[in-house]
Amino acid sequence: MAQRIIIDTDPGQDDAVAILLALASPEELEVLGITAVAGNVPLALTERNARIVCELAGRPDIKVFAGCDKPLSRALVTAEHVHGSTGLDGPVLPAPTMPLQSRNGVDFIIDTLRQEPEGTVTLCPLGPLTNIAAAFQRAPDIVGRVKQIVLMGGAYFEVGNITPAAEFNIYVDPEAADIVFHSGVPLTVMPLDVTHKALVTKPRNDAFRALGTPVGEAVAEMTDFFERFDRDKYGWDGAPLHDPCVTAWLLAPDLFTGRFINVEIETVSELTRGMTVADWWGVTDRPKNATYIGDLDSDGFFALLTDRLARL
Ligand code: BDR
Ligand code: CA
Repeated sequence: MAQRIIIDTDPGQDDAVAILLALASPEELEVLGITAVAGNVPLALTERNARIVCELAGRPDIKVFAGCDKPLSRALVTAEHVHGSTGLDGPVLPAPTMPLQSRNGVDFIIDTLRQEPEGTVTLCPLGPLTNIAAAFQRAPDIVGRVKQIVLMGGAYFEVGNITPAAEFNIYVDPEAADIVFHSGVPLTVMPLDVTHKALVTKPRNDAFRALGTPVGEAVAEMTDFFERFDRDKYGWDGAPLHDPCVTAWLLAPDLFTGRFINVEIETVSELTRGMTVADWWGVTDRPKNATYIGDLDSDGFFALLTDRLARL
C-alpha cells in the first residue's frame, strides 16, 4: 500500500524536484495534500509555485493549501539570492489555473491527522517548520497520531549555509524547529551533510534534459539557474538537490545511511541562531530524537530520480 504523505514546502527549485519525484511515484506515495509555507520566498509565491509544479506534473487534482506567512515569533527571512525573485526562476512555466484550497494549510494538517487512522500519515517538511509546529501547538492531540516526519534541515559537518552556523530552513524558524525536534514523533533528518553530496553535475543534468519531456526540460532549467549560487559560493560543479533527498528516502531508504542521535536547536544566541547541535559522536547522554542522515549513494539517487521523472 502507498505511504500517505503531506508535503510541507516553500518552492524553491529543489522543493519542486522533490514534489515531482513524489508525484511520479503514485504506487509508493499517496500525496494527501501540499501545504505551502513562507521560506525561500513569501507565501503568496510558494503556494503559487506549488500549484505550478503540480500542473507541470499533470496533477491539477492535488490539493494545495497556504499555511503560515511568517515564522512563529520572528520576522521572515527569504532566499531570493539563491532561488531568484519568483523562487522558481529558470524555466518559463505557465501561471497556474488550478485553485488554491480555501482552507488554511495548518488546519488541513490538523484535520487530516484527526481523520486518518493513527500512525498512517507521514509529514514531509521541505522548508521552515512553521506550519508543522503551529499545528502541533494548536492541536496537541495530533502529535501522537503522526507516523513519522522526514524533513530537510540542519547541518553538522557542513555547519551552515545561510549563516556560518545554521542551515536556512532551521535558521528561519528555530522556535518551530525546536518544537518539532522535541515532539517525540519519529524524525528522519536530511541535513546539508547529506544533501551537499546530492550534486547535479553536468552529466546528471544532461540526463534530465535528455528525457525530452517538459518535466525533464524544466528540471534541467531549474538546476541550471539554481547552480549559480553554489558554483559561486562553494566552487562546485553543480547544485545540491536538498529537498528531493526527503522523497527519495521514502522511496529507497537503502540509498542513505545515518545515525540515531540527539539533535538540539539553538534558539537563544543570535550568533548561532538555528544551529543544529547534533551529537553525532555520542558525547552527551541527551535523549536520542532523530535519525540523522550523513551519506547517500549519489549515483543510485540520480538513477532513481531520472527514472521516476521520466514517468511524468
Ligand atoms: C534548504 O533551504 C532552501 O533554500 C532549500 O529549498 C532547502 O529546503 C537548504 O538549506
Ligand atoms: Ca525548501
